[in-house]
Amino acid sequence: MAEEQQAAPVRKLGRALILLGPPGAGKGTQAREVARIYGVPHLSTGDMFREHVAQATELGRRAKPIMESGQLVPDEIVLGMVEERVARPDCAAGCVFDGFPRTLAQAERLETILGALPALASRTQAVNLAVDAEEVVRRIASRRTCRNCGAIYSAAGKMPKVAGKCDVCGGEVIQRPDDREEVVRQRLAAYERQTRPLIEFYRRRGQLVELDGSKDIATVQRELLAALERPR
Ligand code: AP5
Ligand code: MG
Repeated sequence: MAEEQQAAPVRKLGRALILLGPPGAGKGTQAREVARIYGVPHLSTGDMFREHVAQATELGRRAKPIMESGQLVPDEIVLGMVEERVARPDCAAGCVFDGFPRTLAQAERLETILGALPALASRTQAVNLAVDAEEVVRRIASRRTCRNCGAIYSAAGKMPKVAGKCDVCGGEVIQRPDDREEVVRQRLAAYERQTRPLIEFYRRRGQLVELDGSKDIATVQRELLAALERPR
């Protein structure tokens, strides 16, 4: 499932939140929780592509070999998909981007897209989860993912109560095809080359919060929520 939206929001997000960080930094883990807490959509472009691949759509057929090689899907494909999704009414009160934007062209285009949404214009916040390469490689090697809803587990942490079966939806829990070691190396290289510059992009705009993503999941979540509650 590319998006999660659940009832009973207790606070208002009122912004486009962008989670930055290398593969395995914990973007998906944190984005799911923040989206649940604030009752806004979780927009993971990786999950959206995996859904297209699973359904063998035309977009999925184009994205599959690119994802399996650890490269980035071309900007125009990503942007078409995101633009359509952000235009839906459920994003009006805010949304959590996970794995998007990933290139400067995507970040620039996102500014234009959000600029057209009255409640979100000028209300972008990027949070960088800093984790070193050694730790992300370790995390990715332990990661397990639900093939159906994208729930995230770890052989070094929380695993499904029933082996191989997702706690959330009962789907099959697998290792992502792009979590093989040689693909992970390519993904990390793509991150360094194309995505890391976005940290500076958002810093220059005064929209960046930096967090130490190497702390445990609960601590990162606490620090992330505290950052979101600080007056801006
Ligand atoms: P995508 O699915 O976005 O993958 P990614 O960015 O490589 O990020 P990951 O999902 O690997 O890591 P994560 O940060 O979400 O970590 P997680 O929370 O799972 O993209 C996949 C592919 O799709 C790309 O390679 C590209 O081809 C394509 N694509 C997607 N978006 C694109 C775009 N915008 N443009 C172009 N192409 C695009 O955590 C990892 C593990 O660590 C888990 O097991 C978790 O339980 C554990 N963990 C999490 N936090 C902690 C913690 N604090 N301590 C210990 N363990 C932790
Ligand atoms: Mg992820």
